Amino acid sequence: MTRVVWLTDLHLNFLKAAGIEAFLRRVAEARPDVLLIGGDIGEAPDVAGRLRHIGERFACPIFFVLGNHDYYFGSIRRVRAEVEELCREQPNLTFLTTAGVCELAPGVGLVGHDGWADARLGDYERSLVMMNDYRLIEELAGVGKRERWPLLREMGDAAAAHVERRLPEALDRYDRVFLLTHVPPLREACWHQGQISNDEWLPHFTCLAVGQTLLKIMRDHPERRLTVLCGHTHSSGQTNPLPNLMILTGGAEYGHPRVQQVFEL
Ligand SMILES: [Fe+2]
Ligand SMILES: [Fe+2]
Repeated sequence: MTRVVWLTDLHLNFLKAAGIEAFLRRVAEARPDVLLIGGDIGEAPDVAGRLRHIGERFACPIFFVLGNHDYYFGSIRRVRAEVEELCREQPNLTFLTTAGVCELAPGVGLVGHDGWADARLGDYERSLVMMNDYRLIEELAGVGKRERWPLLREMGDAAAAHVERRLPEALDRYDRVFLLTHVPPLREACWHQGQISNDEWLPHFTCLAVGQTLLKIMRDHPERRLTVLCGHTHSSGQTNPLPNLMILTGGAEYGHPRVQQVFEL
């Protein structure tokens, strides 16, 4: 039996050292054999250091993706390069966004990608939501709303391309696969404050490119089972868009990181 402990949207930058220690003790009490961290761990200047700290604290394999907040006050390109370097130094850490198929437990595969809200669902043109992403991440700041639109779609497409390549590889090798991502891939998974998000928020809260890729691949593999773990909207929920596809969205509250769920595989 492998105990897989899922964490997401930790936002550790909202805590002091003692609060982080108390949280890590709670994680240890969950007795993880494997840790999954679904992004929004900190911000660009500190995320690598926080991952290093968690990697030193827990000897078990730690698989993670990054969320939009992990790139705040920095650039996506630089943060990704920094955490890739960290993973080379600390072999129990794996950044799924740039990794291949991993084994989560005997007979269970794992793939993952940050994902990115790709402004395809809802009404991007009319939405008045101004995410901090569009001010605080180098690649997205300094461009207007209209010019940002194709950038968001490109980032969603890059996530989908990774899934399109890695998920079938995983399904060839494993009957059951988990996919870890930050952004909910479909409207039905986009819980926000206990309800499905509206057209105002959906563009910023879903990665439809990944969602459509998941549906297509899982329809082609009816004998295989996929569990998707996502976060980002800080409101928990579950949806089963296909008989062999379950999507769990993690809840979160700034300043109160929690153990999301423990899977015994
Ligand atoms: Fe978050
Ligand atoms: Fe997020």
